[in-house]
Amino acid sequence: MTEFIKFPDNFAWGTATAAYQIEGAAHEGGRKDSIWDVFAHTPGKVANGESGDIADDHYHRWKEDVALMKSLGYKAYRFSLAWPRILPDGRGQANQVGIDFYNRLIDELLKEGIHPLVTLYHWDLPAAFTQGWLDRETAFAFEEFTSLAVKAFGDRVKNWITINEPFCPSFLGYAYGRHAPGIRDLSKGLLAAHHLLLAHGLAVQVIHAGCPGGRAGITLNEGPFYPVDRSPENLDAARHGDGEFNRWFLDPLYGRHYPIDMLQDYVRVGALKSIEPDFIRSGDMQKIAIPTDFLALNYYTRSVIDTGQPVGNFPNYFSTQANPSDKQTEMGWEIFPFGLYETICRAYFTYKPPEIIITENGASYSDGPDGTGTVHDQRRVAYLQAHLEAVGKAIQAGVPVTGYYVWSLLDNFEWAYGYAQRFGLVYVDYETQKRFPKESAYWYGQVARKNGLEIRQAE
Ligand code: FCB
Repeated sequence: MTEFIKFPDNFAWGTATAAYQIEGAAHEGGRKDSIWDVFAHTPGKVANGESGDIADDHYHRWKEDVALMKSLGYKAYRFSLAWPRILPDGRGQANQVGIDFYNRLIDELLKEGIHPLVTLYHWDLPAAFTQGWLDRETAFAFEEFTSLAVKAFGDRVKNWITINEPFCPSFLGYAYGRHAPGIRDLSKGLLAAHHLLLAHGLAVQVIHAGCPGGRAGITLNEGPFYPVDRSPENLDAARHGDGEFNRWFLDPLYGRHYPIDMLQDYVRVGALKSIEPDFIRSGDMQKIAIPTDFLALNYYTRSVIDTGQPVGNFPNYFSTQANPSDKQTEMGWEIFPFGLYETICRAYFTYKPPEIIITENGASYSDGPDGTGTVHDQRRVAYLQAHLEAVGKAIQAGVPVTGYYVWSLLDNFEWAYGYAQRFGLVYVDYETQKRFPKESAYWYGQVARKNGLEIRQAE
């Protein structure tokens, strides 16, 4: 007997992208550089010296891409606004050409009955901010940008994500040097994280005040941390990893202040002078904890902590278990669907957001078109099937999950990994820019049409 899991009515079956990863046209239509343009053009920062200069050329092919979503049966689309396209200098003079690009995209989505979910910040900070997120003022500039976006699009866009995965632009950008701007200083990572969280709080206030019926939330990348064994070192490293990756963001967003064990850890290693860091100004924690309408989560894998096996320049909490290749995607990330169930339940039952949306989940596999143009990516189908079962079980456990967005609609510029990692439901031939829907693209369309899926039989 197979069981069919029916998802809630009006469930948002979507796909997700981000501006710098797909748009290209980096110097067209008045757009100026973001910190990612600068980083990608710095030798040695991105695999094969690649950049988002051309990417999927979505800036010119947006209409074709919307038609593709429609034909595949997808009901929702999460995309991000390029701040440097709308405010090329970061603040001040708005660029109407950039605004009009998004106006056309939004209108076309609505015409095709596809629900837009807009991310305001997916890491492409205008390069004009020379101090980036180290400057508290950047949070207020983001508030202005949000206000402009809400005025321009808020009549049609009602669902807003403030910041995508603040962990990445703060810790990866400023503490571990993996993302723009490529700095390696833990104290700077903590400062950037605070300013990103403050920016989120300010933006939520603007959305609620300026967009009638507007709903706002933040997207966090989350995942469980397991110690490889019960040794005191590994147990403690798993606590620390969970603290930095998950709780450093969840706790302050839900009014619990920064976690005390982590403040103490950071003082111990000299990244903070005291457990009351002076970057926290009066009123900040209240602004950060402003109520939101939903919590959005991105989930890919878990971390298995083995302090005996450090990974690169990351702190050892990022070590993951060596897995046989059929248990990992081509990113080397372990396939661990139970972690999605755990992540959703932990976030919901501990922090009580009104609603949860999965804004990213997906897998990198490089399968390409055969002679007939078919892309056999059954490994991606299996990944998505298993993770959707986990979402279905979380719903059965009582969590109001209202949407799921596959990362990604298209193969695209995968940040420091360049174009080698392909997460798309649709294959992109970067020479010709031709799109080839993969088998997973059709499979996912069927799931969306049926509003649910058959659970695989237990083996
Ligand atoms: C997430 C990012 C997204 C994409 C996926 C694979 O961290 O939000 O842009 O790169 O990972």
